[in-house]
Amino acid sequence: MTDRGMEYLGSADVDRALDGIDVVETAAEVLRLHAADLVRTPAKAFLQWPAEEGAARTLNMPSWLGRPEGPLVGTKIINGNPANARFGLRRAEGLILLFDPETGHVRTMMQAARISALRTAAVTAVAVEHLSAGPPRTLSVIGAGTLAEVHLEVLVPRLRELRRLVIHDHDPRRAEKLAAHAAGAWAGRSVDCSTASGAEEAVAGADVVVTLTTTDEGYIRYGWLKKGSVLVNVSLDDPLPEVFLAADALVVDEWGLITADRRRILGKLHRAGRIAEQGGQGAPALGEGRAVTAHLGEVVAGTRPARTHEHDIVLVNPIGMSAQDVALAAKVAQRAKPLGLGSVLPH
Ligand SMILES: NC(=O)c1ccc[n+]([C@@H]2O[C@H](COP(=O)([O-])OP(=O)(O)OC[C@H]3O[C@@H](n4cnc5c(N)ncnc54)[C@H](O)[C@@H]3O)[C@@H](O)[C@H]2O)c1
Repeated sequence: MTDRGMEYLGSADVDRALDGIDVVETAAEVLRLHAADLVRTPAKAFLQWPAEEGAARTLNMPSWLGRPEGPLVGTKIINGNPANARFGLRRAEGLILLFDPETGHVRTMMQAARISALRTAAVTAVAVEHLSAGPPRTLSVIGAGTLAEVHLEVLVPRLRELRRLVIHDHDPRRAEKLAAHAAGAWAGRSVDCSTASGAEEAVAGADVVVTLTTTDEGYIRYGWLKKGSVLVNVSLDDPLPEVFLAADALVVDEWGLITADRRRILGKLHRAGRIAEQGGQGAPALGEGRAVTAHLGEVVAGTRPARTHEHDIVLVNPIGMSAQDVALAAKVAQRAKPLGLGSVLPH
């Protein structure tokens, strides 16, 4: 064992090394490992504190992946404040640290924002590809911030039958800006890019709905959703409880993280006895309730189906596994070496 110091990759290095990495396949690989019980991802450490504007927060999220070609271990620290957007600053940024699996020493440190956004969009793409009733023609995006832009970058090129993109943001200027950007980026495709002034209008008729807001209050009603659609609830609190209870299939990425989280609606519904873990019996004592249908990893691995009919409404609740960040960061670190990117910091 030698002490090689610690490699550091800044945002520009990360961007260059990401070029050529299949982020969606990387996300699927992690989900397959998760289905094989080869991912350890304990509860996120969350700290929030009052700032001059709103509240700032930090999340620390370690993970271990038991890959057949060798284990990966690391953590993502992601910090931010929803008020940042008002000052033209990114809502969130942070670092990913990769550890030596033998010594536990930090080997590599890199800027996390781009990797975090890409891996989130990649998980959405995997969910859409495995859970759509057919090739989606209408995509609805609610929330037009950083994650929305990255979702469009990852999703739109993969949705070959897409004809309509509808964007809603409670700040209409943000929705319009993103719609104009999308129209320019995919000018050669016959995709109609428009905005909707309300969430119900945005969701109506959509085959795929992705929530990318910062709300902590539900507003999406079950009756708004088209039969056969997929709702990927990335921002976690947008659907009302009725959507979690009535969806034909409820798919999660990591149930342990969802139940450990005290803030989000699905964990709250579980603690209230209304949603049971997968294989559970719902909440017969309350005369209502349901169980989780499947983990996304099981759907990807083909060991448990989630959609059984083309008219099923499927709700996906990806709380976000740092194993996704660690796996993508490891590929970035590997590609950075031959490209001569980054610098070595002394211990
Ligand atoms: N599940 C995951 O794995 C995961 C990973 C990363 C980020 N996220 C979540 O994704 C969300 C978006 O992140 P971002 O970096 O793009 O944030 P952002 O601040 O850049 O953008 C959020 C946008 O949502 C809009 N918005 C807020 N509330 C709204 C509402 N009720 N209706 C319509 N629009 C609304 C805002 O105006 C803003 O444009 C955050 O909630 C973040 O926590 C989830």
